[in-house]
Order: sequence, then C-alpha cells, then structure tokens
Amino acid sequence: MLPPVARQFVAGETSAEALEHVRRLNELDINGMLNRLGTHHRDRRRVRDDARAYRLLVEDVGNTGLEGGVSVKPSQLGLDLGADVFRDSLREVLEAAAPRDVVVWLDMEAHASTDATLAAFEALAPEYGEGIGVCLQANLKRSREDLDRLADLPGKVRLVKGGAYDEPRAVAYRDRDRMDRAYRDLLEAAFERFDDGVAVATHDPAMVEHAISLHERYGTPFEIQMLMGVRPDAQVELAKEYDVWQYVPYGTRWKRYFLNRVTENGRTVRFAARALLEGVRRGDLRSVPAER
Ligand code: FDA
Repeated sequence: MLPPVARQFVAGETSAEALEHVRRLNELDINGMLNRLGTHHRDRRRVRDDARAYRLLVEDVGNTGLEGGVSVKPSQLGLDLGADVFRDSLREVLEAAAPRDVVVWLDMEAHASTDATLAAFEALAPEYGEGIGVCLQANLKRSREDLDRLADLPGKVRLVKGGAYDEPRAVAYRDRDRMDRAYRDLLEAAFERFDDGVAVATHDPAMVEHAISLHERYGTPFEIQMLMGVRPDAQVELAKEYDVWQYVPYGTRWKRYFLNRVTENGRTVRFAARALLEGVRRGDLRSVPAER
C-alpha cells in the first residue's frame, strides 16, 4: 500500500486513483500526464501487461473527457527486448490514444537508448502527428543536433535538463552551469524553429521566465510541464495564464521513484529519511527496481 509520505509524489497504486488525481487537477486547469511506474522490463509478459494497462488508461482518459495524456518509458514498452517489440507495443497504445486525442509522450532514458527512442518517434510521428511527443535532455551533447533533426517533423518535443542518469563525460555535460546553458540554448532554438509548440519541462523559475519571454518574442505556443509534488503552488499560479501539464506517476513500483524525488527535494529530506528508516525496518525497501 502507498504510504501517506509517498502521496506527495505518486498518485496511488491503481489507475483509478491516478485518474481521480487528474480529475482534481483539471478543476485547477492543470492537465495530467500519467506514467505507470516501471522500467527495463525484460520479459514479454510485463511488456504486454504495461502496454495493455496504458491502452486501457488512454481509453479511460478519452471516455471520461479528462484533460490528460500518458508518458511512457521505452524500456517499459520492451526496448530492452528489441526495437520491434518496443514499436509494436507503442503502436498499440497510440492506436487507442489517437481517436481520443490523447497524447502519448516518450520519456527519454539513459543515452544508450536515445537512438532507438528517436528512431521510433521519427517513424511514428508522420502517422500520429501531435498525438506523439518525445523528450530531449539538455545534458546530452547530441541534443542540439537532435533538436534540428526533429524541427521539421510533426509531433511534440519536451525539453528537460536531464542529469538523472549517470552519463559518461564523453556524451554528457556533468557541470550544472553547463547543463543550464545547454538548456537555454535548446529553449532558444526550439522557440525559434518549432511553429507547433514546445513543452518546457522544468521547475526552474529562471527557465520558465526565459521560456515566457521567448514565447513573447516568437509567438510560439508552449506548455509548462512539472512533476507531481514539485512546486505545486507554482503550477496552480502558472495554470491561470499558461498551459500547464503535471507528470503524474502511479502504480505499485513506486519506491525507487519516490526515493529519487525526495533526495532531489531538500525540503522533504527529513520526512523521507523517517519513511526510509521505517521501510528498511519493515524490510520492504531492500530491493527496489531502477526508476527515474
Ligand atoms: P533543477 O533541478 O536544476 O532546479 C533548478 C531550480 O528549480 C532550483 O534551484 C529551484 O529554484 C527550482 N526547483 C527545483 N526543484 C524544486 C523543488 N523540489 N522545490 C522547489 N523548487 C525547486 N528527465 C529525463 O532524463 N527524461 C525524461 O523523460 C524526463 N521527463 C521529465 C518530465 C517532466 C514533466 C519533468 C518536470 C522532468 C522530467 N525529467 C526527465 C527530469 C529532468 O531532466 C530534471 O532532472 C528535473 O526536472 C530537474 O531539473 P529542473 O529543470 O527541474 O531544475
């Protein structure tokens, strides 16, 4: 069962709880982007289960008229088993989402999966248009070129700072200031080139301000994306004027995700430490799956 301490960052263990969270967000004019927690599935049954769960989820979002989408991890939809397994399960979700106008986002994982993730996006974007989106990470040195590649394609692009995966220096900036500069560069290039819009996924007030000024300069539409539980008051305030999406994780595999959020969030460290100690004492945090 999801303990109260985790509820700040995770909507619940079931899709019904996650949908209820999105319903409440919609009352605040915030859209919900649902992620069923889970990564690196190496058996086909798990991949099939998660693809099916996402299919049912987008049907529920569409049929209930919620303002929502989904965001999937490529390795959850079978990328570790092969590019074809991944594309087949992604297509299953897209086929259910497209007639309901539900957007399916591809999260970006560690750099070894970037080529395959972008290849799937490039193959499917001409078919699904604005119904599919992909994420680019500013910490990866290649991202500026990737952004140019994506500029002429249909589909949506989300920009994040990245840095959550321990990437080698050969492919990634590791210095925070350098990553911030790379993020600004990506924002500037995207607002200048992407007529159909940019998803600005950051909690950084300076970057949100920069995105707003770029929107005013170029007129490019944009949306702001933030994680559930991070700067919730800012999300409500921004939603009064801009298009805001909240990334809403849910599911039974919440432990690693929760620990990552609390270690990033200084204000809740003491709170988390207490929860962690309780978990370790009970023995339920001994083996947690990798989750960003
Ligand atoms: P950063 O962590 O650099 O913080 C900058 C400033 O923001 C802080 O100084 C503070 O002012 C403010 N801030 C940050 N956290 C705060 C908090 N908890 N409370 C108050 N203020 C805070 N990564 C990835 O590799 N692949 C992906 O697919 C995604 N997807 C994704 C979707 C969405 C919607 C978001 C928001 C993020 C991701 N990410 C991601 C994660 C992303 O790459 C990055 O690691 C985090 O967003 C942290 O970077 P920030 O840009 O938020 O600022």
